[in-house]
Amino acid sequence: MCGIVGYIGFRNAYPVIINGLKRLEYRGYDSAGLAIINDNYHIYKYKGKVKDLEEKTKNLNLTGTIGIGHTRWATHGEPSDINAHPHISMNKKFIIIHNGIIENYARLKKRLEDRGYNFISQTDTEVLANLIEYIYLKGRVTPEIALRLALTKVCGAYGILVVCTDEKETLFAARKGSPLVIGVGEGEYFIASDATPIVEYTNRVIFLNDDEVAIVKKNEFSLKTIMNVPVTPVIQEIDIEIGDIEKGGFDHFMLKEIFEQPRAIEDTFRGRLSIKDKSITLGGLYNVMDKLINAKRIIIVGCGTSWHAGLVGEYLLEDLAKIPTEVEYASEFRYRNPIINEDDIVIAISQSGETADTIAAIRLAKEKGATVIGICNVVGSTVARETHAGVFTHAGPEIGVASTKAFTAQITILTLMALLLGYKRGFLPKEKYEYYINEMFEIPKKIEKILNQHEKIKELAQVFNNINNSLYLGRGYLFPVALEGALKLKEISYIHAEGYPAAEMKHGPIALIDESMPVVVLASNKDITYEKIISNIQEVKARKGMVISIITEGDEKISKISDYCIEIPEAPDILTALLSVVPLQLLSYYIAVNRGYNVDQPRNLAKSVTVE
Ligand code: F6R
Repeated sequence: MCGIVGYIGFRNAYPVIINGLKRLEYRGYDSAGLAIINDNYHIYKYKGKVKDLEEKTKNLNLTGTIGIGHTRWATHGEPSDINAHPHISMNKKFIIIHNGIIENYARLKKRLEDRGYNFISQTDTEVLANLIEYIYLKGRVTPEIALRLALTKVCGAYGILVVCTDEKETLFAARKGSPLVIGVGEGEYFIASDATPIVEYTNRVIFLNDDEVAIVKKNEFSLKTIMNVPVTPVIQEIDIEIGDIEKGGFDHFMLKEIFEQPRAIEDTFRGRLSIKDKSITLGGLYNVMDKLINAKRIIIVGCGTSWHAGLVGEYLLEDLAKIPTEVEYASEFRYRNPIINEDDIVIAISQSGETADTIAAIRLAKEKGATVIGICNVVGSTVARETHAGVFTHAGPEIGVASTKAFTAQITILTLMALLLGYKRGFLPKEKYEYYINEMFEIPKKIEKILNQHEKIKELAQVFNNINNSLYLGRGYLFPVALEGALKLKEISYIHAEGYPAAEMKHGPIALIDESMPVVVLASNKDITYEKIISNIQEVKARKGMVISIITEGDEKISKISDYCIEIPEAPDILTALLSVVPLQLLSYYIAVNRGYNVDQPRNLAKSVTVE
């Protein structure tokens, strides 16, 4: 939510900031702004996209070696020029950009108003700018001290970049809850919400921790806590190529990421699944393996698509490893005072590693003594750093707001975990374990086969041209896929879609079915409920519903009674989620494109939900 980028060094900051904002736009895109600082400062900010900001500023010949930029996902105050960042304090001493929410902003604002401050925007960020300025002017302290003192008064979350107009050669960065990464170049620094704007300049980065403030000058860098305790920065090398964050010839990031899935899954199991030795190794879980093997209960937490992956994980862990498993929305888990025992294992799933609710759930589980494992896609992210152990999905940066390759990569990890635990706990015989390892190895090729049907799926998408509602049905491993398919459709095409366990249809949703209601049915011939799914299809047909079935190759029984079919290669039931979701991703994509929507930046959404 909101992307922030800053530069200080010897280059002209303007192109660095504009390019950085383009890379970060997936984090929020209702308004954008920048400030370029030289002997003076120049602030431009508008409602709209980064390209609107670029259009309005590109001929202004903005030059300066310090710059900050922001792309917004509105929290306080509607998207408008005035509410866009950067914000400047009333006496023009501090310029600030902010990602997060200042929860006590109303109280702070009132206090500042009582002391003569006027506000021009509705944002919490302007309150912070004025608070820093008030302390600076009233206390006659340095900008750094004013910033640190102000931050001690703030409740909530922030990743901020601040420039004091009296000390224009310094850029301050601070974080609590919202991520910030500092790229370390030769005589220059790049600061951003994530590494995507940085990797084209350097792969050496510092991940800021909560309650830290970085004081960054052209050739100088220091780090301390807001309580003024010096911190030694740890520089890490990140492994992201520029190609990973570009569209590479595809029309949209989402399409590129759907097509990347064979590679993403292979990268995720590379070095972990050995076809030669018929073994699975999860190095990141080494320290907690005994606890996992003896676990009495696993609780999986996540949000959105990651929560759906968690549901597949529940089926896998109970089925293969026989460990009682529950899946919880992180947002519910964190506030409902859950019963957590010290021998519980909590698995937190998050693509970004920065989802506020998931992080809060991790902290709660740790507080209660549980062992917490992360499944996460972003190295250096909060989830990766705050969990006791974990496994990275190596899906590569996911930029499309609708999650696709992260989902299949998360399920890949959960499958490896469940297989390994099933084997080690003695519930999965060696031959079965080796059979599944072989089958898992085949999954990328099978996904290629599904992707090759993209033209057919594109054509099928036309069926949805005038549709406003749809139903997705699945059972067993394919129930979470039905939920995920429905989520994909609604978030990018704005068509109302509901996912249901197929058998639940007759307990209510069946009332919705008529000839204008497409029902997408997920059916695997390996599922024990296969015959029951056929009955569910008949029930839809009897009410003139239109049935689109995702079936196993050669399944004539279902193809005969369906209006449309997409075939997926045969696979054991435990692996069908990995395959069945792919046609649903493509279907949603083409439906949204047919409707003329920007699939990478759906309305009201943003990648990486760093606010509650
Ligand atoms: C849906 C989607 C979201 C995310 C959710 C969790 O396509 O992308 O539902 O899955 O916001 O995000 P992460 O996985 O980053 O914690």
